[in-house]
Amino acid sequence: MSSILQAIDYAIRQIDSCLPAFIEKFPFSHSEGNFYEASENVEWTTGFWTGELWLAYEHTHASKYKDAALRQVASFKERILNRIDVDHHDMGFLYSPSCVAAYKLTGSEEGKKAALLAADNLVSRFQLKGQFIQAWGELGSEGNYRLIIDCLLNLPLLFWATEESGDDTYRDIALKHIDTAMRVIIRDDASTYHTYYFDTETGEPSKGVTRQGYRDGSAWSRGQAWGIYGSALAYRHTKNPKYFDLFERMTKFFLDHLPADRVPYWDFDFTDGSDEPKDSSASAIAICGMHEMAKFLDEDKATFYRSEAEKLLHVLIDTCAAVDPKVSNGLLLHGTYARKSPYNPCNNRGVDECNTWGDYFYLEALMRFAKDWDSYW
Ligand code: GLY
Repeated sequence: MSSILQAIDYAIRQIDSCLPAFIEKFPFSHSEGNFYEASENVEWTTGFWTGELWLAYEHTHASKYKDAALRQVASFKERILNRIDVDHHDMGFLYSPSCVAAYKLTGSEEGKKAALLAADNLVSRFQLKGQFIQAWGELGSEGNYRLIIDCLLNLPLLFWATEESGDDTYRDIALKHIDTAMRVIIRDDASTYHTYYFDTETGEPSKGVTRQGYRDGSAWSRGQAWGIYGSALAYRHTKNPKYFDLFERMTKFFLDHLPADRVPYWDFDFTDGSDEPKDSSASAIAICGMHEMAKFLDEDKATFYRSEAEKLLHVLIDTCAAVDPKVSNGLLLHGTYARKSPYNPCNNRGVDECNTWGDYFYLEALMRFAKDWDSYW
């Protein structure tokens, strides 16, 4: 079993192998044949690479990571100022690991300004009827009148924005969205819907529908993981015990439904014996969530979640980590971005590949076990 520190060294070597290609440009959301192509600063995924650079900087103190990350902070500021691909809710995914991290680690005023503008953009998507932040599409349109479980990771940006600006609006909207999301998105057995629609006239919740899971009633494994980390972050920022209960139940569902090799299939409808692909990124996200929640628990529970998280992390290190720059320029193999099913609108995309969020959360998870890491979220 490789040690955590050795795994971090491998990950940083992987980052070094592609750093020159990804300073002005970013890795695309997912790899092809386990290699990332370069992309402009678009999609919901570019902040993760900048976040990896900040983690590498924290671990090594080498200025090459800081210098590259700060150049990317300038790109994120241009992106929000010029409204390039920002008509959606993924402001936290983009701006927390890049610009909030820059501000926390270096005092970057440019990072602070960009992240506050991103927070403004996020609150502009709040819908009074239904009390939620609309994920995608034209604001108020019937076909897009829904929240998605992933948004829980966008909300720490709003708590941060209130702390930095003194304006309670950001926090109030985060609290309202969390309350709505937690009410509608978790089923009785603690599996989760991916997205939930609301009536545009009355604001009443209407139906749970999947976008990236296998079917409406299944548990998309990455969605379940967003629920785990999202409820831990909701607890961190609110200390509301309701979110601890939901965290415990969603985590139990996740752990109870893992296959024998402890790497989830892309949807929990699939288990041992299936030919369907895995999604290692779901595991990386859930590990971070369990580790985060453990900070707030009594010793017995904290030990339980830390130990479950550490076991899953060692599985990732031993079976999914990319350790050879000739095989991949990513960190975590065997992720799945989107998988076609008869019941979802997806085409296959990034199936059994690296993806930037899998890489980021894997490195965040390693850092969490290596030091007393101060969260970017
Ligand atoms: N947040 C989008 C995804 O997890 O694919």
